[in-house]
Amino acid sequence: MKWRWLILFLLTFFSLEAEPGEALTVPPLREGRLRSDGVREYTVTASEGELEFFSGIPVPTMGYDGDYLGPTLHLRQGERVSIHVQNSLRETTTVHWHGAYLPAEADGGPRQPIGPGETWIAEFTVNQPAASLWYHPHRMGTTAEQVYRGLAGMMIVTDPSGPAGLPDEYGIDDIPLVLQERRFSRDGGFRYEPRMPDIIHGYGGNVLLTNGGIEPVFRAQTRLLRLRLLNGSNSTILRLSLPEGPEFIQIASDGGLLSRPVPLKTLVLSPGERAEVILDLREQQGRNTVLQAESSFGAVYTALLVNPGDELRNNGELPSRLASLPAAEIPRAAGRRSFVMSTMGPGGSLTINGRRMDMDRVDERVAAMSTEVWEVSTAGMMMNTPHNFHVHGLQFRIIDINGDPPPPELSGFKDTVLLWPGDRVRLLMEFGEYPGIYMYHCHLLEHEDAGMMGQYEVLD
Ligand code: C2O
Ligand code: CU
Ligand code: CU
Repeated sequence: MKWRWLILFLLTFFSLEAEPGEALTVPPLREGRLRSDGVREYTVTASEGELEFFSGIPVPTMGYDGDYLGPTLHLRQGERVSIHVQNSLRETTTVHWHGAYLPAEADGGPRQPIGPGETWIAEFTVNQPAASLWYHPHRMGTTAEQVYRGLAGMMIVTDPSGPAGLPDEYGIDDIPLVLQERRFSRDGGFRYEPRMPDIIHGYGGNVLLTNGGIEPVFRAQTRLLRLRLLNGSNSTILRLSLPEGPEFIQIASDGGLLSRPVPLKTLVLSPGERAEVILDLREQQGRNTVLQAESSFGAVYTALLVNPGDELRNNGELPSRLASLPAAEIPRAAGRRSFVMSTMGPGGSLTINGRRMDMDRVDERVAAMSTEVWEVSTAGMMMNTPHNFHVHGLQFRIIDINGDPPPPELSGFKDTVLLWPGDRVRLLMEFGEYPGIYMYHCHLLEHEDAGMMGQYEVLD
């Protein structure tokens, strides 16, 4: 592919020796504080920091409650939550709860800016299935840079009515993995300095960070290991595999559990997408299992080394049924809309339906609690540029991809869908009850910042 030349160039000139072997950093789990009024309260502070990815070379970063990335927020289905976000940066930010079903004013998109020194409170009732969600900045024009510098965190929704038998001991057999490709320079640091080709093709890199570390090691103590995978890269699509390990058993997509476990040899995640997988380590005792990640920019990385101990604790059996999902059927009266993602606008501008994002323009208006079919396709001179399509405020279902029903791993709840060049996908959108303005956009952050985004309003 044409867009591989850049990474080849980088790899040739700046090959850095990683120092693998550090233990995987697991972000702290935040349970929040249950107030006497029954609301669970959390606080996160965005601030600047500094981190040595290669020892002795401090890199200026950003993080939530720390130097890089942020704590994992544990939300419980049915509870009311109040998340206080403090901005200690020297610039405006927002915090968006990616994948969460909530009122528009709590969404944390570009319409809810938080100025330097300000605090913003998002309050909503958790009303969705158990899932792995995440949070990140969403300020118009600076999302890519703020995420790149480290602002991102996981958010786990749990629901006690879910199936028994899934590993759920956080940090022991239930591990979040934030995977991010970064472009390090020869001096061992990284900056965000996109040029024109980076905007069209995305800001790829030459190092993969896993929870902020390079080739970290996780020492497994149990037979079943649950990984909550997030592709937190700006524009890199990752193809994950376990070359000498067991198969992945995927149990959940963006918005929650699949109907049944899906065995997979490879798993493709585009920016913003999540997958929960189970690794069955009983055959792996005594040997390292490599989680390999291949970047759409051409590099191949070790994302994680899983080192199973000699005595693996038996932590349950995987249930054969996970969730009962409604059929993704199109109701007769469903409205239809189409969205064309294009790199063909004037001066190579990035558009959806020929328009760039304008905060003062609402592109689509939909009725609360209605169901529609959204058809998304790609066009443009740069036909080798993939995109993905992310919608705020709901989880959709994929009806078909190029006319074919989706494979089982894409048949559950999704909020982000990958489109390879030329792809056409149809999505079943069930809008919620909250009126207000939400975003839809390409989650390749360079594209998003360049205007490949629109607004839809849910009308009462
Ligand atoms: Cu992950 Cu509009 O966001
Ligand atoms: Cu989102
Ligand atoms: Cu795009």
